[in-house]
Order: sequence, then C-alpha cells, then structure tokens
Amino acid sequence: MERFESVDKVVAFDSVEDVVTALGNAGYIADTRLATTVFLVTRLDKPLLIEGPAGVGKTELAKALALISGRRLLRLQCYEGQDETKALYEWDYGKQLLYTQILREKIGQVVADAPDLNEAVERIGAQESVFFSERFLASRPLLEAIRSPEPTVLLIDEVDRADEALEAVLLETLAEFQVSVPEVGTFVADVKPYVVLTSNNTRDLSAALKRRCLHLFLDYPSAERELEIVRSKDTGLPDALAQQLVEIVRGLRELELRKAPSISETIDWARTLAVLGVTELNAGVLSDTVSVVVKYDKDVRRAISALPRLVDPNATVPETGHGHGHGSDHRHDDAAGPRPAPAPAEEQDAEEVDGRAVRAAKDTAGRFGHTYGSNPLGGDGGAAPITPPKVPAERGARSFGLGRKRAL
Ligand SMILES: Nc1ncnc2c1ncn2[C@@H]1O[C@H](COP(=O)(O)OP(=O)(O)OP(=O)(O)O)[C@@H](O)[C@H]1O
Ligand SMILES: [Mg+2]
Repeated sequence: MERFESVDKVVAFDSVEDVVTALGNAGYIADTRLATTVFLVTRLDKPLLIEGPAGVGKTELAKALALISGRRLLRLQCYEGQDETKALYEWDYGKQLLYTQILREKIGQVVADAPDLNEAVERIGAQESVFFSERFLASRPLLEAIRSPEPTVLLIDEVDRADEALEAVLLETLAEFQVSVPEVGTFVADVKPYVVLTSNNTRDLSAALKRRCLHLFLDYPSAERELEIVRSKDTGLPDALAQQLVEIVRGLRELELRKAPSISETIDWARTLAVLGVTELNAGVLSDTVSVVVKYDKDVRRAISALPRLVDPNATVPETGHGHGHGSDHRHDDAAGPRPAPAPAEEQDAEEVDGRAVRAAKDTAGRFGHTYGSNPLGGDGGAAPITPPKVPAERGARSFGLGRKRAL
C-alpha cells in the first residue's frame, strides 16, 4: 500500500477511463470491464461482490478504491463462527464498569433511601439508559461505516467464510444502509459507504445477497495484463524474462494443481529470479525456485515435471508413454532440475493432464470448488463444498471423562 500514498485524492470520476487512470496511478492495473464495475459502484448505491480465486487482486481492489476516492477504508474480515457483535456493535463493558466504579457514590445516593431491594433495583433500572447510550456503544465496521461522517469504503473481506446467520445481518444492513440498536435507535448513513465484498467461493452465497450486489468475477488476468502488473511492481526482472515467466505461470495454471499460482506468486517469482541474477529462464533454475509459486508437495512435483515443456514447447520430452495408460513404474526424465521423488501411481497418472480440459471443466458456476477455494476439503469444481463434520464442544470432555473412569 505504500505505493498508493503518493497518489492525489480524487473524489468522483467522470468516466470509466478516469477510473482506469486513477487505479493505475494507485498501482492497480485494471481493464475496462473491471473499471466499468468500479465506476458503477461510485454511481449506484450498490455493494460490489467480487468473486474469484485467491491472489487475483480482490482485496487490493477495495484498498485501491478507497485510495482513489479519498475515502477511509473500513474492513470487516470474516471468519467462521463470527457473530454479529464483531460486525455491527457491542457494548463497551470495560467502560461501563469503569464508570460504575467512579460513580459508585452517586449510584449509592440513588438507592440510599430505598426501603427494600425491589425498590433499589427499580431505581437502578430507571437509570439503565445512561449506561446503554451511544457513549458506551463500541461500533464495529458495519455500524462504523453507517455512522461515519466522512465517506468510507467498507470492505467485507472473505464473506464466504462467515456463517449464513451473519450473511443475513449483512444483507439487512446493506439493503437499508442502516443499523438499529434497540436501546438507542436507528442509525442511518448520511453518506452511503462504497461497499466491497470479496469471496473465494468456499461456499455458495445466498441468492438474496448476490441479487443486491453488482457482481464482478475476477479471474487470472490475460498474459498482457499480468505482464503489466509484474512490470508495475518493479521486480527487477528484465522485461523479456518477465514476459516468458508470465507464460510459464499461465502454463502452470493449466495443470491440475491443488492451488494454482496467483498473481502475487508470479510477482514473487519474478523478484526471486531477479535477486538470483538470472539471465535466462531454463527448467533448472525454475525448478529450483518453483516452491515460490506452488506450495503443496504434490503440486511441486507436477510443476517440476511440466517445466521443461513450458520453458520450451518444442523440447523433445523423452518417450515415456505419457498420457496413454502407463504402469506404475512410470518415470519423468527431466533433463534439467532435480528429479522429484517418485509419486504414487494414481498421482503420476494425473501429472501430465492437459490443463485446458481441466480448466474448461471448471468453468461453471460455483466452480472453484477444489482448485480456487482455500477449503482443502473442497470437492470437484461445481460440486457442493464439503462441510467438515461438526464436533460437539462437549465431545472431548465426554471422552476424557470416560477415559478417567476406565483408569479408576
Ligand atoms: N490488477 C492488479 N494490479 C496490481 N497488483 C495486483 C493486481 N491484482 C493483483 N495484484 C497483486 O496481487 C496481490 C494479491 O492481491 P489480493 O491480496 O488483493 O488478492 P485476493 O484476490 O484478495 O486474494 P485472497 O482471496 O487470497 O485474499 C496484491 O498484493 C497485488 O500486489
Ligand atoms: Mg483477499
């Protein structure tokens, strides 16, 4: 975000081109589809829901939007089990306690001449509103955005990780741009925030939420745009190599990997190669550094075996019977780079799967089930996400109790 600080604040945009330019100045490379959606966010009072695989710039876009529009960024990071007090507001218990301590004498006076306990409680109850007033209200991001006198961008990040109950709360707030606090009243936004929600699609969001939002699917960028992004990061890698690297990363994305390399990983790889002073991309140096972009052991093996072909599509790969039902003694004879440990037969069979078919198969609604999502239990693209079995909280205690009984 340091890059963004030097950018002059712009409050409104006259055109999509304006948005492209402003985002570019803020270090965010946008195409017209993306910029059009952002332009509409600034013109229609509609939240923006950005879906897409990890590391394609969803969160960064919200930050860039805050920067270019001169708005304060408020962020609600969603997680499983989060309740609405972390999203909307909670009562500042510590402050309430502090005040009651300081005001002990005064409170004592209120109940001093109460004839019985009942009356004393009644009198304290009559003062309740003092302690449940705005002074003791701790705003969380949603209420903060609604109450803020200055314009804000509200980023609700990774909304798919939140439970459905919280999604319902969000829906209510986003529909009306207001929050009701029973003890105090209803807060209505004077200046409506720009709202950006992001999702990795680890679970399907409700149709009601989607309907209320402008929708942007952010996929891996075109080679041209990805190169532009890499260039904009001043990685130090010569341009010709950066260009080649982008193509290689795109090739890796075509493989059936558990976690495909993202834009941020392309940038990291470019930086790594620049630091090593690489002047030519060959399978050897790429294999040695491939763990910068692929993070699972099985993915590393698949990537290493594909790299010679990706570096030089015309390279003659030794005839080892790829892709036609070979046996379990199958080996990859890579000319360069360390030979990976032999994979189990069923993994090896999938190693050289043509990724175009794989990606085409994934290109369906709710598709980033297993490659894009960060749910390691996610099923195949398009299938319903697998929910890990819920373990009742008391289960551990119960089995511990049993164990103790047996031991006695
Ligand atoms: N269009 C872009 N212009 C400039 N940088 C980009 C762009 N897209 C992605 N990046 C780079 O990629 C990095 C990762 O982006 P970001 O954190 O926004 O990904 P994300 O989609 O939110 O991923 P996740 O789902 O894992 O949270 C950013 O820090 C930025 O450096
Ligand atoms: Mg993110």
